Amino acid sequence: MVNAAANVYVVLRAEGVSAVLDVADGRLPALAYWGPDLGPQSLSEVAALVVGGYTQAENNQISADIRVALLPEHWTGWVGRPGVSGSRAGTAWSPRFTSVAVRLDGEDAASSAGIPTLVEGGIAVVEVDAVDESAGLSLTLTVELTAGGLLRSQAQLTNTGGEDYQLDDLVLAYPVPAVAREVLDLAGRWGKERTPQRQPLNVGQHVREGRKGRTGPDAATVLHLGTPGFGFAEGEIWAVHTAWSGNHTHYAERVFTGHQVVGGGELLLPGEVRLAAGESYTSPWLYGSYGHGLDEVARRFHRYLRSRPHHPGTDRPVTLNVWEAVYFDHDLDRLLDLAQRAADLGVERYVLDDGWFGARRNDLAGLGDWTVSPEAWPDGLHPLVDRVRELEMQFGLWFEPEMVNPDSDVARAHPEWIMATGDRLPVESRHQQVINLGIPECYAYIRDAILAILDEYAIGYLKWDHNRDLIDAGTAPTGRPGVHEQTQAFYRLVDELKAAHPGLEIESCSSGGARVDLEVLQRTDRVWVSDCIDPLERVGMHRWTTQLIPPELMGAHIASGRSHTTGRVHDLSFRAATAVFGHLGIEWDLARATAEELAELGGWIAFYREHRTLLLGGDLVRLDVDDDAVVAHGVLAPDRSQAIFSFASVGRSEVASLGRLRFPGLDPARRYRVTPLRVGEEPSGLTVPAWWDLDGPRAGVVLNGAALAAAGLTAAGTHPDHAVLYRLDAVS
Ligand code: DGJ
Repeated sequence: MVNAAANVYVVLRAEGVSAVLDVADGRLPALAYWGPDLGPQSLSEVAALVVGGYTQAENNQISADIRVALLPEHWTGWVGRPGVSGSRAGTAWSPRFTSVAVRLDGEDAASSAGIPTLVEGGIAVVEVDAVDESAGLSLTLTVELTAGGLLRSQAQLTNTGGEDYQLDDLVLAYPVPAVAREVLDLAGRWGKERTPQRQPLNVGQHVREGRKGRTGPDAATVLHLGTPGFGFAEGEIWAVHTAWSGNHTHYAERVFTGHQVVGGGELLLPGEVRLAAGESYTSPWLYGSYGHGLDEVARRFHRYLRSRPHHPGTDRPVTLNVWEAVYFDHDLDRLLDLAQRAADLGVERYVLDDGWFGARRNDLAGLGDWTVSPEAWPDGLHPLVDRVRELEMQFGLWFEPEMVNPDSDVARAHPEWIMATGDRLPVESRHQQVINLGIPECYAYIRDAILAILDEYAIGYLKWDHNRDLIDAGTAPTGRPGVHEQTQAFYRLVDELKAAHPGLEIESCSSGGARVDLEVLQRTDRVWVSDCIDPLERVGMHRWTTQLIPPELMGAHIASGRSHTTGRVHDLSFRAATAVFGHLGIEWDLARATAEELAELGGWIAFYREHRTLLLGGDLVRLDVDDDAVVAHGVLAPDRSQAIFSFASVGRSEVASLGRLRFPGLDPARRYRVTPLRVGEEPSGLTVPAWWDLDGPRAGVVLNGAALAAAGLTAAGTHPDHAVLYRLDAVS
């Protein structure tokens, strides 16, 4: 490592995106540019690009360029949110870092005094070391541009001074040009997770804080700042995602100087991170996705996730989860009967939900006592597990490892393991409290209990639940905030279990949909999108959940006709047509289904199994139609040889026909046969457009991709709450 000031520009380019990192004159790295690809750049061009963005001082303003680094520094004159807030008992609170080393893919890339050098990185990982000797702090910033053009960065701050340094806040920020003035992020609540909200960005901050100790059903998930009116295919968008499953923040900021940023980081509770001499804090990854339209933004996330070596394939097994079928009624005969019915339909994975352990006959007691209940299961889980395996299904089991009912053996034995701020318990939620994985003995107890179950039974899948927010989540005996440690311990626990049981898959559930972020997904294999399985709600939730994650990571079930969360009644065709665009499951008491329903359900399962490579592995396009009337999307094979589209009628429009619906994203020059896809019952109220029968009964038509995208074809009419699917096959 050279200890002189670093002096380089790094140009990263991938998949239509350029990011120019300015580390000249030893200043902290700043994104001098992040947006559409600029093509190859010479040193003089990059230098001009950097200077071309310098701020111009007006009367009463800072006379130097106000430079917004990835970790914005107050000393430069930046009066927006600083990258680091903290102090050593009131000193060292405004650090001024000097970058002293730059590495590109691990190789030294720093140059010293004189003219900055240019490093062409392409797809690369850049690390920058920086120090502030008088503040007693050092910093490593890591910036990566992935092959799919997704940007991500992370900071590690180390206390190199003698006294403790209390870190109050650490955020990273990406600059966004002034043309972007509209914010779109997600909100939500239990049973209605990830609903979009939009507003203009005015001077000040748009801040989305998560203080729930988990990602949360209301998490911003992806915060976009774009040109006004941007949609799925239109508008320029700069978006960020904070990959963290504990308290966290996303924000967009517009400063009076005209600077704009989007950023995020972990939200630290008072005194939560106090670094002793030599100790470090590592921030979550802040992901950045630039795109023309929301689909391109989403596709960068999808491509990144799909490129990971451990990413689940598209052969996601059809799952039966027994929760809405039996709830806490663990009757072996009933569960065996369900297993038989599931296997007969082609189900490939069977998941036993809450209620198998301790005194957990309802949600009042037993949580935390992770041994099989002899009362409910006199022969252990063996009779069920064995039968499920005989039926050639994988067995999955529910856990909620971070939680405890006060009425449990473990809470009685170790009241000090309950997270609390002092001598009072946090307000209850679902009759439960949080068990403190930050306490080594408690962590070991939970880990060993889960391992004992995994060792005894052939379990391929865990459904990992987390049903309450962390309120007053302090750690005994002092009551100091423990959310940061709890989040890290949760990650460690999952990692340990997976290391001990290679191939074990884990679902991130959390009340359904309250732990959906890219850090939990580094170690889990799908999310349970929501406890609400009502397809009318789900079409919206799937639409926006896929803004971050691809369909194969999204648990989507077919439930009973009457939704348990909304009371609405829906035909099986709509329930199934919604669920097949995710990782398909069944959550329905099949003993109550009619023979006709079972036959139709079997048809949908067969359809999913036959088409899952495309359904779960294709590129997603979402259409801007009229979301109050039609929610439309499609999946296209990466080679554009085929596609499946869905047009779901979700409301009644003020006009009788929505006219032609477009099929975007195909190869414009190739010709495709478009046919209506019928699996089970025809959607009710179907009015058939003329083109369906043009080339023979329901044989559809052939048009090229350009015509399908630009002109489209007349929509079929249906009653609301029904979907029409189409298949498109390239013809030679
Ligand atoms: C919440 C989950 O989302 C449900 O699917 C179910 O597992 C219950 N918890 C069990 O308590």
